[in-house]
Amino acid sequence: MTDQYAVIGNPIGHTKSPLIHGIFANESRQDMSYTAIEGPIEPADAFVSVVRAFAAKGGKGINITAPFKLKAFAMSDECSERAELAGAANALKFENGRIVADNFDGIGLVRDIEVNLHLPMEGKRVLMLGAGGAVRGALLPFLAARPAEMVIANRNIAKGHALATQVSGRGPLVACGYPDLEQMGRFDLVVNATSASLTDDLPPVPPGVFSPQGTAYELAYGKGLTPFLRLARNAGVHGVADGVGMLVEQAAEAFLWWRGVRPSTSAVIDRLSVPLA
Ligand code: ATR
Repeated sequence: MTDQYAVIGNPIGHTKSPLIHGIFANESRQDMSYTAIEGPIEPADAFVSVVRAFAAKGGKGINITAPFKLKAFAMSDECSERAELAGAANALKFENGRIVADNFDGIGLVRDIEVNLHLPMEGKRVLMLGAGGAVRGALLPFLAARPAEMVIANRNIAKGHALATQVSGRGPLVACGYPDLEQMGRFDLVVNATSASLTDDLPPVPPGVFSPQGTAYELAYGKGLTPFLRLARNAGVHGVADGVGMLVEQAAEAFLWWRGVRPSTSAVIDRLSVPLA
């Protein structure tokens, strides 16, 4: 029987996951289907019922997108350390009646930066803007890449400090507010992991954090030059990227986890990329 996979979210119409996994499956000759499911928001326990029903009908795994990542994590029987720190899952695997959770968003981002953009983070100064779910998911994979220094800046400073305390001892991580960045010099890599770009807003980041030889990475994708990337360009940064590579790389990590085969990603990234004018 064809193995079944899906992505669940609400809304779900915009998802690229069936296209991405369809290409991966074709190319690696895997007998699998991958569909999109619009998950129920109400009542509160309906999401869990839909996922359990999918597994009961022979589903092997499912990707989770907004707003269900916390619920997916909470319903799992076991999880990876990075999913635990994020408190969120973007992929589940159904195995021998158990639900296993992982979170590939952060590792997908690290692979896009290090492998696709050829920017090893070891020894580099890295700044990440935000302290929400995206940053929680990325912290351990980023620290594992051994930057010389990693700073997270957030409007709500207490939220940033709480995160830094959670991973203390795992790497050189400092949390601060945006005004503090004025005294911190330039960074080799600045990642916008806030949700500001979704509303065309700009986090209050001082332009002095950018290094012209460095890279600015916007987690949002398909939006062209966001206010953050425009700020970076105006500060002289040539290397700007959006999150399309992260999207495809996190999918590839889930595919590898489910199927035991690593698909190639560059053609899919090219196909989904929107030019950063
Ligand atoms: P989730 O956890 O679901 O990803 P979230 O907790 O709302 O979402 O996190 C969104 C992140 O974007 C937060 O770091 C938020 O900053 P605060 O914690 O200070 O609210 C950040 N964010 C959203 N809009 C922003 C803006 N216009 N400027 C700067 N940061 C912004």
